[in-house]
Amino acid sequence: MQVAKVIETYNQGAADYESIMLRYWNIDRKPLIASLQLQPGQTVLDAAAGTGLNFSAYPEGVRVVGVDLSEKMLDEARKKPVSADITLKVTDLQNLDFPDNSFDAAASGFTLCVVANPVRALEEILRVTKPNALIAILDYCKSQNPEVQKWQELISDAALELGFPTGKIKWNALMDYDELIYNSKLAIEVLVDERIESPNPFSCGCQLLLKNSKS
Ligand SMILES: C[S@@+](CC[C@H](N)C(=O)[O-])C[C@H]1O[C@@H](n2cnc3c(N)ncnc32)[C@H](O)[C@@H]1O
Repeated sequence: MQVAKVIETYNQGAADYESIMLRYWNIDRKPLIASLQLQPGQTVLDAAAGTGLNFSAYPEGVRVVGVDLSEKMLDEARKKPVSADITLKVTDLQNLDFPDNSFDAAASGFTLCVVANPVRALEEILRVTKPNALIAILDYCKSQNPEVQKWQELISDAALELGFPTGKIKWNALMDYDELIYNSKLAIEVLVDERIESPNPFSCGCQLLLKNSKS
């Protein structure tokens, strides 16, 4: 999805985002963030923070930088009660203006299924995180069940072009994590790769823990 379309869609959907999202993905974010093993004083990138559904899971003493293209999504995030020190920035995850090795860790929730170029976005996350940094990902993805995949193929054009509900949330209904993490040859070590299968084509996903293996 192109940048202008992402901004329009998520600005439009910001106020309703959580009620829609939580219908399909009412999932505790604490285990995702805990998997980063964050220590006080560390800095973590929240890649496309949206309305800040990860925020309450960050521990006190940690500095979080949340980036997103949609100002309105970040306005919702500003309302969240938090323990960590959180800074928000409107910017494109595919072209981050942070120096190399700025972050100790990164988290990405339902992000890479939305960005236009997920390989490019993951390259940027790898560039701005330090060698050996942990990267926790929770995302929608293509089912490994061929029957469910057929439904995902059916909804994919509508999900990407019109969104669901129309114009409020858009994503790639055929997001291929095998392609992204195994075939892309990015500098990552896969520590955990758990797939979440469901007969509902809107509720298939994955939870991953990656290590930045750049030298
Ligand atoms: C489905 S929402 C996920 C929000 C949040 N991470 C969560 O877990 O609920 C996708 C978010 O990605 C943002 N986004 C999409 N493409 C982006 C990009 N290239 N750079 C930064 N943010 C982007 C959208 O604005 C939206 O807030």
